[in-house]
Amino acid sequence: MTIFWAVVLLHVILCLGFSSSSQWDLMGTAMVTPDYVRLTPDLQSRQGAVWSRVPCYLRDWELKVHFKISGQGKKNFNGDGLALWLTKERMQNGPVFGNMNQFTGLGIFVDTYPNIDKNRHLESFDLLYFSQRAFPYISVMLGNGTLTYDHDRDGRTTELGGCTAIARNSIYDTFLLIRYVKNRLTVMTDVEGKQEWKDCADITGLRLPLGYFFGASSATGDLSDNHDIISMKLYQLSVERTTEEEEQEEVLLPRVDNMDQFQGKVEDEGTSGVHLFFTFLFSVLGLGVLAVVGLIVYGRWKENRRKRFY
Ligand SMILES: *[C@@H]1O[C@H](CO)[C@@H](O)[C@H](O)[C@H]1NC(C)=O
Repeated sequence: MTIFWAVVLLHVILCLGFSSSSQWDLMGTAMVTPDYVRLTPDLQSRQGAVWSRVPCYLRDWELKVHFKISGQGKKNFNGDGLALWLTKERMQNGPVFGNMNQFTGLGIFVDTYPNIDKNRHLESFDLLYFSQRAFPYISVMLGNGTLTYDHDRDGRTTELGGCTAIARNSIYDTFLLIRYVKNRLTVMTDVEGKQEWKDCADITGLRLPLGYFFGASSATGDLSDNHDIISMKLYQLSVERTTEEEEQEEVLLPRVDNMDQFQGKVEDEGTSGVHLFFTFLFSVLGLGVLAVVGLIVYGRWKENRRKRFY
């Protein structure tokens, strides 16, 4: 694949970008400071977002996001995270990191709170089905207007890809790179201060209609954090296309061409080798403990019997 790195920086959202002629709208608790846009402060039950006013008609692009998540809460006593969007809808608040559910388009979530581990009302089936993972967790979802993000399960039912990224209260600058080239979406992170991109998600055949809006949103609940966007830079990428690729029809609804690449993934996870290993290990340990207890009881019983006979 040839990408001409004669990229064009299109929009930069940064303090200075926010003038009256700004191409961005703020909503909720979002506020602009000289150094960043704070989507939510480290306070309970806040929602904030920033949305581009200009629809995006780029076919190939790259979005580089410099963000910061910080707060007073100890690990797992913070939340909920932030989301980046490229959707048909804009400026709608709701339950998905401060944005509406059943959205149409792309959502990329930096989730800092593991709901699935804490929801006691969920069936143990869920805990078995979805293996444990470390948070913050970055995940990708493509909404088509009817798909629903399941907050209690951290979106595991609709997730197309993702990775753990230790990006909260970090001493390093934390970055996300989202690249969309020829219907292939790649997400990369730079959160370890190494100045290099680490693969996070790679989804092919992901088809997004043109004319959607970029945005970023965040929400806090019982738990909170500061969720800051330091910068969001959108680059246009020039990519060579064959005539065949040129003629590919535009889609009207977002969709993934080959959903097979994800089918069975969740099930595999549920009965992963690690899971089986631990089940086996604990079974063996359990049997071992039973055997020892049995031997002790048997020993006592025999001794008592012997004593009675003397
Ligand atoms: C949205 O996607 C889901 C899952 O792939 C599918 O079942 C549903 O029919 C789609 N909705 C529309 C309107 O295409």
